[in-house]
Amino acid sequence: MDPTEFWPDLFELSPESCDEFAAFVTEELGIQMTGEKASMLRSRLARRMRDLNLPSFEHYREYLFNPVHIEEERIHFIDAVTTNKTDFFREPTHFDYLVKVVLPHVERNNRGAAHRFHLWCAGCSSGEEPYTQAIVLSEYGKQRFGFDFAILATDISSKVLKHAHAGIYESARVEPVPPELRSRYFRRARDTESDLVRVVPELRSKISFHRLNFMDEDYFVRDKFDAIFFRNVLIYFDKATREVVINKLCRNLKPGGFLFTGHSESLAGLDVPLTLIAPAVYGRAA
Ligand SMILES: C[S@@+](CC[C@H](N)C(=O)[O-])C[C@H]1O[C@@H](n2cnc3c(N)ncnc32)[C@H](O)[C@@H]1O
Repeated sequence: MDPTEFWPDLFELSPESCDEFAAFVTEELGIQMTGEKASMLRSRLARRMRDLNLPSFEHYREYLFNPVHIEEERIHFIDAVTTNKTDFFREPTHFDYLVKVVLPHVERNNRGAAHRFHLWCAGCSSGEEPYTQAIVLSEYGKQRFGFDFAILATDISSKVLKHAHAGIYESARVEPVPPELRSRYFRRARDTESDLVRVVPELRSKISFHRLNFMDEDYFVRDKFDAIFFRNVLIYFDKATREVVINKLCRNLKPGGFLFTGHSESLAGLDVPLTLIAPAVYGRAA
C-alpha cells in the first residue's frame, strides 16, 4: 500500500526537502534522482516514515540527518530508495553466451587443466541473478572434468542481500527457471501449505554475498575475475560516475575477461579498457 495515496496532505514533500533527499541519494549511491523519480522518492520514503511513526517529511529529514541516527538510518534509507527489480534468467541470451562462448574460451586458455571460474555478480539484488549463474555454471560443470566455480555477489542494500543469502522465493518467482532445473536446484518448504521454495545448499555454498557500495574509493575485492556481470545498475548513474565505476571494476577483471551490462546500457563514449564484442558484452584486451 502506498500511504501517500490515502493521506496526501500528510505527505507533502517541499521542493527543498526533496532536493536535499535527492542530493543525499546521489552522494551516497551515485543514483541520479531527477524528474519523475522525485515522486518515487516521495512514496518510498513515506513508507519508511510510516514504519517510524513520523508525521511528516520534515520530521524524517531531522531524524535521518541527526548524528544519533544517521549511521543506522542510512541503511534503511538505502534499502528504501534503491530499485531492486530482478528475475531468474533475466536477459537470457547472456547465459547462452556464457556457456557457448565465455566458458569454452576460458577452458581453451587453460588448455584443459583444472580451473576455478571466478564470477562477480555486481549489483546482485535479491539473488535471482547469481543463483541463475550458479545453475548455469553447475550444469556446465557436470560435463567438464576439473571444472569448478565461485561467485562473489555484492549489493549496497542490506535488505536484498539478506533475502539473497537466505535463497527463499515464492514459487511464482522461479517460473522462468526451466522445470528440470527447478526440480534439481530448489526444494519445497516442509510445510505443505507454504508456497515457498529454497535454493539447494550445494548451490548456495558457491556464492558469497557481501555489501559493497560502488561509490567507495576502494572496493576491497582482491580476486581477479574471469567475468563480471554488472547489469541494470549503470542506468542510474551519470556519465562521469559510470566511467569511474567501470574502471574500478576493471581492476578486478582478468586480461581477456568479460564484462556484461544490461541490454539497455552502453559504455559508448566512456574511457574504459573494454571493447564491445556482442550485445551488452564487453571484452578486456588479453
Ligand atoms: C535494478 S537492480 C539490478 C539487479 C540485477 N543485476 C539484474 O540485472 O537483475 C540494481 C541493483 O543495484 C544496486 N545498487 C544501486 N546503487 C548501488 C551502489 N551505489 N552500490 C552498490 N549497489 C548498488 C541496487 O541496490 C539494486 O539491487
